[in-house]
Amino acid sequence: MTKLCVNIDHVATIREARKTIEPDPILAAAEACLGGADGITLHIREDRRHMQDADLFRLRESVQVPLNLELAATPEMLALALSSKPEMVMFVPEGRNEVTTEGGLDVQKESALLTSMLQELRQANLKTSAFIDACLKQIDAAKSCGFDVCEIHTGPFAEAVIRHDLSLEHPEVQMERDKVLASVQHALHIGLQCNAGHGLTHHNVSAIASIQGIGELHIGHSIVSRSVFVGMQNSVREMKHNIKDAQA
Ligand code: PXP
Repeated sequence: MTKLCVNIDHVATIREARKTIEPDPILAAAEACLGGADGITLHIREDRRHMQDADLFRLRESVQVPLNLELAATPEMLALALSSKPEMVMFVPEGRNEVTTEGGLDVQKESALLTSMLQELRQANLKTSAFIDACLKQIDAAKSCGFDVCEIHTGPFAEAVIRHDLSLEHPEVQMERDKVLASVQHALHIGLQCNAGHGLTHHNVSAIASIQGIGELHIGHSIVSRSVFVGMQNSVREMKHNIKDAQA
């Protein structure tokens, strides 16, 4: 079954709204694991708007499942990855004014920088992933740079679902889903592990989870949103059921 990695940044977003000590993302991670999370994902942004460096090191101490660290390709973030040694380092583009990650990395354009950073991460035995749009050229570029994994950006699919009154059958939704499908197949064909994420919800996840060969789904906002009503453990459990049902 495709694994579920739970992104807990959104818990830290609530904490940082008050600059206080609760809710604690480390407790959220523990609850997510009790609900069946196969991995925990966090993004340390350059502006530290949600997760803080101390959160990363506390998670490193406490979380028993693989820890996935999202970051921008900068020397500061590379140093943080090398010192915290997460199970996977996931490169994402970062824009100062964006509300959330808006698009995939331009691996082709950034290949020189990324290739040199990947060399350092490989020497430290760290697995690496590139967050990219559903675009075959970017997948090829990720392979050439030396990434182990690519994560296909499912945001355009998720936005199409919202635009079309939550229909999973609308032709535009199907078209976006087909782009993800073609990307997953291409990535697997050229020997990359393929993950997917962004904008996935309890409602729309079935359309993506039914694509064969996706290693991990990285999901945050919808799980944290639903946890307000049913608790983190139940929210993760429901998402796992939805993934399982889609693959039955
Ligand atoms: N994957 C990546 C690379 C992301 O940046 C994010 C958002 O932090 C996610 C997955 C999870 O997206 P969402 O919070 O919309 O589920």
